[in-house]
Amino acid sequence: MVLDWQEYKQKAVEAITEGNVLLENRENALPLDINKTIAIFGRIQLNYYKSGTGSGGLVNVSRVVGIPEGLKQRGASLDEELLEIYKKWVEKNPFELGEGWGGEPRCQKEMPLDEELVKQVAGRCETALVIIGRTAGEEMDNFDERGSYRLTEDEENMLLLTRRHFRKCIVVLNVPAIMDMSFVDIYQPDAVLYAWHGGMMGGLGTADILLGKVNPSGKLSDTIAYRLEDYPSHPYFGNTKRECYCEDIYVGYRYFETFVKEKVRYPFGFGLSYTEFSYSDIQWEAGGTERILVMVTNCGAVAGKEAVQVYCEAPQGMLGKPAKVLCGFRKTRCLKPGESETLSIDIARESIASFDDSGVTGHRFAFVLEAGDYAFHVGKSVRDIQGTLHFCLDELEVVEEVITALAPVTAFERMRNEQGKLGFEPVPLSTIDEQKRRMEDMPEEIAYTGDLGIRLADVVNGKHTLDEFIGQLSDEDLSCIIRGEGMGSPKVTAGTAAAFGGVSDHLSQLGVPCVCCADGPSGMRLDCGTKAFSLPGGVMLACTWNTQLMTELFSRTGLEMRANHVECLLGPGLNIHRHPLNGRNFEYFSEDPFLTGEIAAAQLKGLHSAGVTGTIKHFCGNNQETGRHTMDSVISERALREIYLRGFETAVKKGKAYTIMTTYGSVNGVWTAGSYDLNTTILRKEWGFKGLSMSDWWANISRRGQEPDKRDFAAMAMAQNDVYMVCPDGQKHDDNTLESLASGELQRAELQRNAANILEVVIRSQAMQRLLGTAEEVEIAGKDDEVEEVQKEVPCFRVGKEITVDLSTVEAKRGTSYSFILDFEKLGDYEFILTAASDAGELAQIPVTVFSMGTARGTYTWNGTGGKPVSFSGRTEIFSRYTTIRLYFAQNGLKLSEMAFRLIAEK
Ligand code: BGC
Repeated sequence: MVLDWQEYKQKAVEAITEGNVLLENRENALPLDINKTIAIFGRIQLNYYKSGTGSGGLVNVSRVVGIPEGLKQRGASLDEELLEIYKKWVEKNPFELGEGWGGEPRCQKEMPLDEELVKQVAGRCETALVIIGRTAGEEMDNFDERGSYRLTEDEENMLLLTRRHFRKCIVVLNVPAIMDMSFVDIYQPDAVLYAWHGGMMGGLGTADILLGKVNPSGKLSDTIAYRLEDYPSHPYFGNTKRECYCEDIYVGYRYFETFVKEKVRYPFGFGLSYTEFSYSDIQWEAGGTERILVMVTNCGAVAGKEAVQVYCEAPQGMLGKPAKVLCGFRKTRCLKPGESETLSIDIARESIASFDDSGVTGHRFAFVLEAGDYAFHVGKSVRDIQGTLHFCLDELEVVEEVITALAPVTAFERMRNEQGKLGFEPVPLSTIDEQKRRMEDMPEEIAYTGDLGIRLADVVNGKHTLDEFIGQLSDEDLSCIIRGEGMGSPKVTAGTAAAFGGVSDHLSQLGVPCVCCADGPSGMRLDCGTKAFSLPGGVMLACTWNTQLMTELFSRTGLEMRANHVECLLGPGLNIHRHPLNGRNFEYFSEDPFLTGEIAAAQLKGLHSAGVTGTIKHFCGNNQETGRHTMDSVISERALREIYLRGFETAVKKGKAYTIMTTYGSVNGVWTAGSYDLNTTILRKEWGFKGLSMSDWWANISRRGQEPDKRDFAAMAMAQNDVYMVCPDGQKHDDNTLESLASGELQRAELQRNAANILEVVIRSQAMQRLLGTAEEVEIAGKDDEVEEVQKEVPCFRVGKEITVDLSTVEAKRGTSYSFILDFEKLGDYEFILTAASDAGELAQIPVTVFSMGTARGTYTWNGTGGKPVSFSGRTEIFSRYTTIRLYFAQNGLKLSEMAFRLIAEK
């Protein structure tokens, strides 16, 4: 099997072009005239943000195409004098990495602009392209401050001056999530383009849009309101202990369209094009009410695509509903001027049903369609409706009855639609006992047989059943199989997040291979420095509204994973954009669960076509980074079912997800890794999920009414969160599984059920195929300078309290990295001392960046040392037994000698 690297890049560029969202384009300011020189302002032109920060942004690439480079590659000419000025300034004001994990600045210092300079450049160029950049990510929410959600003073000045002196002022936002847009009113730019974080090819796709090589077709996956305070979750967002989701189902446009339309600046689903589309012949197919047909015609002058959306306006009934709910969408192919395409859009009853968690409709705990008129608005956005179809229900219809699960135990008042007026009502509380449920659902125990010589391969080959295999597993084996090992387990691809399956000697002897998991949604994170393809962020991919393209792109990511022996990508991320300041919004798709689920299912389809999978995360309610380990999210059953679980449900049912990750936090009183209702009642019994559920890394686990405890693997196993991520050593770990088994609390049958869930995933993995010798290896063809040679051997050294690693044979070549793994006996704070020499001139600058588990710990710059060794020291916290240390060399000319590590404080 071959992965064509050039085609992969091409697919990514296609996705980037379709994910750019054009919000303003006065008097056709865009596309730019390729024959006219463009003046680019903003330091981020030289430091393009390919992704946000944290686990979802740590893909190693050797080159990222920024916007100026993209424009040049596509034939545009830039004002080189201005570019030089920026280059010189950036050299003196290099990109600040900040304080490592969760500590990267959300923006970089901007070059202050002198009006004279702006005037001069405006004398030679008609157009100023102003690029503004932001980042955010894991453990790093945005702030409602300048330099984060808002512009800095230098940025405002840049807009003021370019607006004043240039004929055209175009703003490009290289940002992880939506930001304050009040600058549009103040500075009136001619065009505004959300270019998001586009991964390593980002600048090229954005250049295609700016130059009109491709017509923009991206549409917002979130509502942009005038003010941050306008978002319904705003008063409740950002707690660290408990957060009641009082806005309930009224998230994003569901709230704005229902109660406060006037507060919206750019509506959900909105995005401009360089052409015009007309919609006609909107009708139900063949007299039914399951499929809508719509003819879309390109009536403008240039070719382009259009994302057609269908919103359901359901009768208010007893429940009260949002004014509109997205229930279908489809993107056209690229239509030439004058060309038409008839799209058919399926409308599933499930996607227009409401969940009754109080019983007001007479059907408590059911998805229902209340009687009345259902209007289906077909449009270009939630606001721009082109035609409406109807159907009438004479009587209430029950779409699905479920059993109550995961309901709140804390009383609060939630929003309610009272004839278009905002009201509040008490939320229904839990009526059940999960422990009783657990006992009633107890599986049958498989009798213990001891080792009968059955190997996992015998199950794959149909010689024995999985139950027969599991019968051989001792208590000890069962306690090991629920341990995921990592990070950086030497049992799988170097520098990855985890191994699961055969993590102990005996499991391995029984023929269970280790399966490899690597972050994350925007491509593979390989902490040992191996380069991988960096994809556009989740929000940008959602803005494509193109499911087919998602499948095509991720089928290539799947092949790339296979080539690296990675079986589970830790993504896509399916949490809901409940509030614009959530740091991980860049990894997640949308404020809408329908769009979220469809995009996720399409990505999974692509990964599955390559024989690997994606782990949908974080299940569920991880909608802010602040307090994510400590906070209890209190959410009504209705909001869970209609909003926060919905995307996951689609990914399981339609996308056939078979690995899922729970969260760090608690939902309705129980930390999700110990939540029986979440992992068993809803995920498996109701949705029919077949596969394994894993915890987030070093997550808390809890039982109702008790404090969380990371040792409580028993609670996790009982809940059917099958794997704890991660333990330093799968063979032995300080957890309570055996203790709890011996006390008769945790049942052997439950652990056997976890084992079956895990082994089923192992059996279908490429790791199993490799063990059987039947795996077809994937070769990557057509790689170019974006992918450099992989370090063949990544050595591993055991560390007691200190170690000195000899680096004298390592060649510190510009643009390369050297990695080694340290296997620490003791975790805690370490000091490191890196020693090197250089024969270069006294003023030479030779920087080395030290990464610990993918996170930069510091950049140390040597000058010429006259050949004498010079040392730099730094500190790093070691929190994982296996830690990959990577040294990145930005220049030639350093002779490395050694790197020493010394324990300062054990933790
Ligand atoms: C994140 C996960 C990630 C895991 C492994 C956690 O900190 O929340 O999304 O997959 O680490 O890196």
